[in-house]
Amino acid sequence: MQEINILDQVIHPEYAIYNGDSCEVLAGIPDDSVDLSIFSPPFQSLYCYSPTERDLGNSKTPEAFNQHFGFIINHLMRVTKPGRNCCVHVAQLATTLTTHGYIGMEDFRGDTIKAFRERGWVYHGEVTIDKDPQVQAIRTHAKGLLFVQLRKDASWMRPGFADYILVFRKPGENTTPILPDITNEEWIQWAHPVWYDIKETETLNAAEGAKKNLARILKEKTQATLFDGLFEETSEITTLPEINHEDSTVLPPLNGNKAFSLFR
Ligand SMILES: C[S@@+](CC[C@H](N)C(=O)[O-])C[C@H]1O[C@@H](n2cnc3c(N)ncnc32)[C@H](O)[C@@H]1O
Repeated sequence: MQEINILDQVIHPEYAIYNGDSCEVLAGIPDDSVDLSIFSPPFQSLYCYSPTERDLGNSKTPEAFNQHFGFIINHLMRVTKPGRNCCVHVAQLATTLTTHGYIGMEDFRGDTIKAFRERGWVYHGEVTIDKDPQVQAIRTHAKGLLFVQLRKDASWMRPGFADYILVFRKPGENTTPILPDITNEEWIQWAHPVWYDIKETETLNAAEGAKKNLARILKEKTQATLFDGLFEETSEITTLPEINHEDSTVLPPLNGNKAFSLFR
């Protein structure tokens, strides 16, 4: 692992963790060196993660977010090996009367696909992750999900929002075939376009099993909040050999506002 001149870093034979602005940290990562990236970006300004304007989550407009995110997407394209993938966890966004002037939804999933395609990535696949509408109703009080609205005027009702894992592929030939140790039946399970078995309450923690090293590092060294099951399934589908293979590099480029990591 190479040293990069930033706020702080931990360099280990198995991983490197960089603390800094991802736009700058990524600039120090060599071209065509990453086997897989997996991350969840801020969903525009839905949540506040930190006070700095360097945080994508503090973008003042969707246009500013797209411009800022574009720097990350361009760097991911540059550092990824040809023929390899980048997995991005996203969800759709609600519009509100106070902020947008109307109640509806924003196509953040579509915007993300557009942003990646405009920068040369191939839109390669996606998984829809089922979510519990009741949990969303309680957490967000969205008018379209509330029982009280159902009884008052059901014209406002709408389904809950799903999560998605978007998979983008860098054009070019993969020079190192990935040869996973799974059966055809197991593959059929992974290949389902909708996953119903992701537990929303299980955020990433010290998991047992094949990915335990990665999960442990993520838990100990980052503030990762990707769903545990979701992360494992996504890893399984695209990175099992990478994670278990000492010559592979997995990059989560927005790993919480404390750390950026690169795993070998
Ligand atoms: C949705 S969270 C993802 C957290 C964690 N990696 C995960 O997947 O669960 C996005 C994170 O990206 C961080 N972030 C946003 N812009 C950044 C930037 N320019 N440099 C570094 N981190 C950034 C935010 O502070 C936030 O912690």
